[in-house]
Amino acid sequence: MNDTTTFADMPRSGTGPPQHAASRAPAAMSPDAQGGDGTARPQDDGPVLFLSGIERRYRQGEAVLEILKGAELAVWPGQSVALVAPSGAGKSTLMHVAGLLEYPDGGEVYIDGVATSTLSDMHRTRLRRTELGFVYQFHHLLPEFSAIENVILPQMIRGLSRREAMGRGTELLNYLGLKDRLTHRPAELSGGEQQRVAIARAVANAPRILLADEPTGNLDPRTSERVFNALTQLVRASGLAMVCATHNMDIAARMNRRVTLRDGLVVELE
Ligand SMILES: Nc1ncnc2c1ncn2[C@@H]1O[C@H](COP(=O)(O)OP(=O)(O)OP(=O)(O)O)[C@@H](O)[C@H]1O
Ligand SMILES: [Mg+2]
Repeated sequence: MNDTTTFADMPRSGTGPPQHAASRAPAAMSPDAQGGDGTARPQDDGPVLFLSGIERRYRQGEAVLEILKGAELAVWPGQSVALVAPSGAGKSTLMHVAGLLEYPDGGEVYIDGVATSTLSDMHRTRLRRTELGFVYQFHHLLPEFSAIENVILPQMIRGLSRREAMGRGTELLNYLGLKDRLTHRPAELSGGEQQRVAIARAVANAPRILLADEPTGNLDPRTSERVFNALTQLVRASGLAMVCATHNMDIAARMNRRVTLRDGLVVELE
């Protein structure tokens, strides 16, 4: 992990999703957006992710569990936000809603200024593929495929040629210190290496937003440190916005912001 310019210089493939001027999030409330790659997109001064009044409830028989009760969170390009809250508080729920994997019961998710609740499934899927990257606690790599194949698959699904995808995938894995592990299958990689492949896969399509749900949750402290360093380097180098759910306070302390979930609402810490 020595060349921090390589990843930053990679072009975002494709032109991004169509924009709907009528349904933009307010570009106001601009705090200190850290870093950023300065790419000239008109909405760059607004949050790239804006969760507005998010409600989520689960019905369990007669009972209704109110998990999110109007949660608000705005994240700017280049910003890393730690989401630190007790088990069961709703971190994964919030990440799933932010990642367009679930619909909220109320409120709106704006991605790059675009309201997502009224988009077609096809459009939401496209946004997920192009604008969002996910890293989970367990890597969910495909066991039959090598490290590089796992990284190039999302790019090929997106329409890149195998050659282009290989070039970018190799560069990313090199960047993450896995130059000599390209052809290893997940079972032939250590836990930290598997997580770094998962990170490479998550950012292979150059998303704007990275959602990491306890990405170092099942790793030893030293390996978590390594994986976390890889994540923060990518965020800094590329202007990605990251929301990272974690129970690790050392890791949280090094992000730009820390938030928690209290009674279904996002609360800024410190
Ligand atoms: N599909 C579901 N049906 C019913 N209840 C659910 C469902 N998904 C989550 N919950 C409940 O919602 C609450 C929040 O779950 P969530 O997974 O978001 O917590 P979390 O903050 O990510 O916890 P952890 O730190 O343990 O991962 C929990 O009490 C959980 O039991
Ligand atoms: Mg969780």
